[in-house]
Amino acid sequence: MKGILKRFSRRKIEDVLGQLSTGFGVSLALVDADGSPLVMRGTACPSMDCLSGSECRAGRAVESEPFHCTGACVGSLVVCPSRGSAGHIAPGIARCLENILRLEEELEDLSSEIVRGYEELSLISAISAKLGCEMDVDAVCRLVVEEADRILEARTIFIMLLDGEKQELATRFGMGRDRESAAGFRASVTSGLTGHVFRQGEPVTVCDIIADGRISLPWQARYILCVPLIADARPLGMLIATDKLSGEEFWSPELKLMGIFASEVASSLRKAYLYEAINKLFLSTVEALATAIDAKDPYTYGHSRRVARFAVAICGELGMKKERVREVELASFLHDIGKIGTPESILRKPGSLRPEEYEKIKEHPGKGAEILSTIAELGEIVAWIRHHHEWYDGTGYPDRLASEEIPLEARVITVADTFDAMTTDRPYRKGMPPETVMKIMEQFSGVQFDPDLLRAFYRCLEKGTLS
Ligand SMILES: [Fe+2]
Repeated sequence: MKGILKRFSRRKIEDVLGQLSTGFGVSLALVDADGSPLVMRGTACPSMDCLSGSECRAGRAVESEPFHCTGACVGSLVVCPSRGSAGHIAPGIARCLENILRLEEELEDLSSEIVRGYEELSLISAISAKLGCEMDVDAVCRLVVEEADRILEARTIFIMLLDGEKQELATRFGMGRDRESAAGFRASVTSGLTGHVFRQGEPVTVCDIIADGRISLPWQARYILCVPLIADARPLGMLIATDKLSGEEFWSPELKLMGIFASEVASSLRKAYLYEAINKLFLSTVEALATAIDAKDPYTYGHSRRVARFAVAICGELGMKKERVREVELASFLHDIGKIGTPESILRKPGSLRPEEYEKIKEHPGKGAEILSTIAELGEIVAWIRHHHEWYDGTGYPDRLASEEIPLEARVITVADTFDAMTTDRPYRKGMPPETVMKIMEQFSGVQFDPDLLRAFYRCLEKGTLS
């Protein structure tokens, strides 16, 4: 490849040289540094066989002028003037050619910059759209790694989040060849390469991890790219990629792009963290409320919390989505809120209940649903609470719904509620061992309980996911 042709396309030089040749009425040849002609244009002396001499065959004086690119001489411009044209015109034409080609080059750079900018904008807007409504930290992490992988095409890519207590980064989600090794990987936020990246506040790439020595990975890699995730000046995590599939190093345009990407990710992550914190606060408030309800009857202390734990385990066994499981947990905490209107003399009564007292107890699912129906955000949860005492065979209360008519979530709470009630002490009897309770509940499979859910609950007990 010739030096001049590395910078400019042959077609571009031919075009410009042609225009200059016509405009000045001369023949022109652009000659490379080693003296070989690259492009020739013009009719004054079409053969340009005078390139090495001082006169052309027609006896006209040939001029030669050094040709420069960004200040360095890269060749020369040979000018064979037409008959009667003024002498010493090569310097002017050479400067003209240099300027035109330089402007063309700047124009091309500008166009590429615009294209790159457009690509970056498209990418960021696509990521923003995807991340925008995602409030779950794990889902944000998964999306981020998947999108980053599309940009970087790395062999291994993973996201680490800050463990504030230990001042360490811990891997939350990873993809690629070494994802299993990356899963347990931890790194400091104050020292080594990761500490340096946080201090820099910008993506950093290293071309030889071993020679660099600032990070020790549990897998073999040569190149690494670390992108800090910082929101409101607080480090939240880091996105790390090692070795590209192509075997090349990570280039600076990718670093720049990842920098923009990281700021989007960090603000989404911050939102998800805030949402998680608000959720935790809400759940703690509900838990406190449930504890207050349970406290009306000292025998049922901790009942709602245990029911929530059992119900969550069943939901997990059924493969329910995280958001739905969270709602079942909430419903379990609140399932007996209607007992707020039941006299304590009935709730704490040691002996068996009179029929009218039992009728009073049976009002609690309906009352609970009524109390909560004013909170629109609870949505379907209200119905689950209303129906947690329905029986699978349709003989329960308050609406005598049967099988699939009873919301699945209410059927889950029924199993969890009954198991806890029978395994704990009550004013009128001692709690029974879990094995005995399960045998009794089995007799009510298809009567009081959904058989599928009862089986799921058995599996939870066997796996130990209830403890
Ligand atoms: Fe209940």
